[in-house]
Amino acid sequence: MNNLPIGLFDSGVGGLTVLRAMRVSMPKESFLYLGDTARLPYGTKSRETIARYSLQVTARLIERKIKLLVVACNTATAAALPDLRRAYPDIPVIGVVEPGAQAACAASRSGRIAVIATESTIRGKAYDDAILRLRPDARVVGVPCPLFVPLAEDGLVEGPLAEGIAARYLDRIFRVPRERGEEVPDCLVLACTHFPLLANAIAHVAGPGVTLVDSAATTAQAVKRTLKSAGLCSSEKKGESFFLTTDDAERFARMGECFLGFPVPESRVELVDL
Ligand code: DGL
Repeated sequence: MNNLPIGLFDSGVGGLTVLRAMRVSMPKESFLYLGDTARLPYGTKSRETIARYSLQVTARLIERKIKLLVVACNTATAAALPDLRRAYPDIPVIGVVEPGAQAACAASRSGRIAVIATESTIRGKAYDDAILRLRPDARVVGVPCPLFVPLAEDGLVEGPLAEGIAARYLDRIFRVPRERGEEVPDCLVLACTHFPLLANAIAHVAGPGVTLVDSAATTAQAVKRTLKSAGLCSSEKKGESFFLTTDDAERFARMGECFLGFPVPESRVELVDL
């Protein structure tokens, strides 16, 4: 059991930013990642559809045998975490929202926190609820930023286009109130797995004094803690990563490199049907 891989899934390649952090903090663990690229984006879909997709993807990972599941997608965590935990009570299931909320509460001094994510994550208010549970005096503002997803997928992460779109979404939270002399959030949560790639453009538009946080590192810490407390740590010397995708293995391998930070060999990517 201990040497089974940790399973992770995302709607596409974005969750590889979470895998990246997990590989660094748990080098002995192996990982099996499934990117449901055929049905990306999840963020524009209804909660029911996202929950159905998440259950299908998880069933495929469970079939391959995993010891723990990480929902490496904010949209799927926000929409489906309780359904997944109910469906698979025998393995630990960890989402990215709670760790992201913890990172935000630790980073914010003023308690004014902005959250940017997909339409579905913002609509469901999962981050607002998680942050307010940890810090009841916090003031949370959520902004859907759907165009950041295709921008990251296309590698358009810096320069006038990325900054222009970021300004369109974020000026009303940062630039406009600042010009009026009003207080602005001191913490901005990148509550979508794609957004860390756009961090430079987003930070430029948010301006000084705003700390950007994402859930990758805190999720990795939560997984490590859970493995330890459940006695599930790997006894291997070095772990390996394997990848499943629901569409175009070559594109997954090519795009994946930008999100993972090192090459994804196409020979490690298997096309699956759900
Ligand atoms: N992976 C999704 C998330 O973290 C973003 C992409 C999508 O909309 O499917 O919210």
